[in-house]
Amino acid sequence: MLAQRLLRQVLLSRGTAVRLGSSLAASGDAAAVEQPAKSSPSRTRPKSWKVDGLVVKPDERWNLTPSVMALLERHLHAKPGNPLNLIKQRIVNHFHKTYRKAGNRSPLFTVCDREPRVVSLFDNFDSLLTPEDHVSRRPSDTYYVNADTCLRAHTSAHQHKLMRQGFDNFLVVGDVYRRDEIDRTHYPCFHQMEGVRLYSADELFGKASGEQFGLFASDDEKRTPQKQSELSEDASKVLEIKLKQTLEELCLALFGKGAQIRFVDAYFPFTHPSFEVEVFYEGKWLEVLGCGVMEQKILTSAGVTDKVGWAFGLGLERLAMVLYSIPDIRLFWSEDSGFLSQFADKQPEDNYKYVPISVHPQVYFDLSFWLPDRPSHEMSADVFDLIRSIGGNLVEQVSLVDEFTHKKTGRTSHCYRIVYRSVDRALTKEEVNVIHKQIEKTLVEQYDVQIR
Ligand code: DAH
Repeated sequence: MLAQRLLRQVLLSRGTAVRLGSSLAASGDAAAVEQPAKSSPSRTRPKSWKVDGLVVKPDERWNLTPSVMALLERHLHAKPGNPLNLIKQRIVNHFHKTYRKAGNRSPLFTVCDREPRVVSLFDNFDSLLTPEDHVSRRPSDTYYVNADTCLRAHTSAHQHKLMRQGFDNFLVVGDVYRRDEIDRTHYPCFHQMEGVRLYSADELFGKASGEQFGLFASDDEKRTPQKQSELSEDASKVLEIKLKQTLEELCLALFGKGAQIRFVDAYFPFTHPSFEVEVFYEGKWLEVLGCGVMEQKILTSAGVTDKVGWAFGLGLERLAMVLYSIPDIRLFWSEDSGFLSQFADKQPEDNYKYVPISVHPQVYFDLSFWLPDRPSHEMSADVFDLIRSIGGNLVEQVSLVDEFTHKKTGRTSHCYRIVYRSVDRALTKEEVNVIHKQIEKTLVEQYDVQIR
C-alpha cells in the first residue's frame, strides 16, 4: 500500500517496486502509436490516449508499458465470480447493512467504483499533502502519463474531489497502479477500497452533547502525537474510537470471531494520528489497511469547514488472499478455468478455501550486468518493468540479490535473481531460457547495459 511507501521515507525500509503482463495488446483505445527510436516492448508511447472516457496527451514523462496498459482493460473488480469482486461485494454489503441513514431506509455510504483511473498529480499527491520530495512521486514508483497526470497509485486520490462534490460518507473501489517489487504479494496493478466518513458535531457526539463538546481546538493548541492542532481533544479521541470500531467490526465480519487483528501506529501524510491494521495469517502479521483521522487541512481545502472525519484504505488482494487462502497474487489475473471455476458459483458471504490446482516447480535464472551511467533505483524500476513485459505471468519473483561498484572503473553492477514459475503448468529449463535470453537482449538494446 502507499502506506508502506510513505513509511519508507521515514524508515527507508523498502526498495522500489514492479510487475508485468505480457502482450503488446495495449488498449483497443490507444490511438496512433508512436514508435520510440529503438523499438521496445516496454515503452510504447501513444500520441493521444483515450482511457475511461478521458483523452490524455502523453509526454516524455510517459512510463507506462504495454503490459500495464493491458491490465487497465481487465476490470477485475467488476467481473462477477472474480474473488476480488466477491470480497468487494462482501465489504459493501457489510457497510450497507451496518450503517444506515436516519430512518434506516437507505445506506449511509455511497459506493464509487467507476472513478477514472488517470488522475491529476494534484489529486494523487498534493491534495493529500504528500511532500514535494516524497519518494512516491518518483517516476520509478509511479506510472506517469505526462507532466500533469498519472495512473492513480491509491484510491485516496479521489478523496478530495468527492468531498468537494459534497459527499460525506463514501467507499471508493478500484484498481490502482504502482511500479513495485515482484513477489507473491505485489503486482503492478492491485485493488483498494477507500472509506471516508465525515461528522458534524451532532453526528460525532450525539445530538444531546453536540453543543457541549466542540470539534475544533482554540488557535494556540499544538499538534501532538495524539492529535492535530486544529481538532479538539474530544473530537480526535472520539473519531479514533469510531474508526477503530468500524474496522474491527469489518474484520470480524470478514474473518469471523476468531480472527486476530491489531492496530499499529503508522505515518501517512493525509491522516493524523494514523494506524495500520494487521491480520495474523499463516504465522505472520500481514498489513491489510491504513487509516487515521483525516488531516483537517484536506477537508478545509475541499470546502468542508464544519465537519471532521476519518479515512481508511484497504488492499483487496491482501484480504482476499487471507480469506480464500489464495497463495499468489498472480492468480487473480488467471484466465485458467482451474482457478475461475472455483469462484464462479460463489456468493459474497460464502466462506471458501481455494484448492491449489497443482504445485509446479520453480526455475531460477540470474541476470548480471554493468549499469550505464544512471541512478541505481531508476535502473531497477526499469528492469522490473522490462522483466514483467517480456516474462509475463511466468515470472513469480524478481529480487536484486547483489549490487556493487567496481573500485577502479567506478561502474556499478546489478545481479537479479528471477524465479520463473507458471501457476498452471510445469516449465522446462529450455523454454525459460528463451525468455531469459530475450530479457537480456532487450536490456542491452534498450538500456545499454553490459551483460556480465
Ligand atoms: N492510501 C494509502 C495506501 O495506499 C492507504 C491509506 C492509509 C488510505 C490511510 C487512507 C488512510 O485513507 O487514511 O497505502
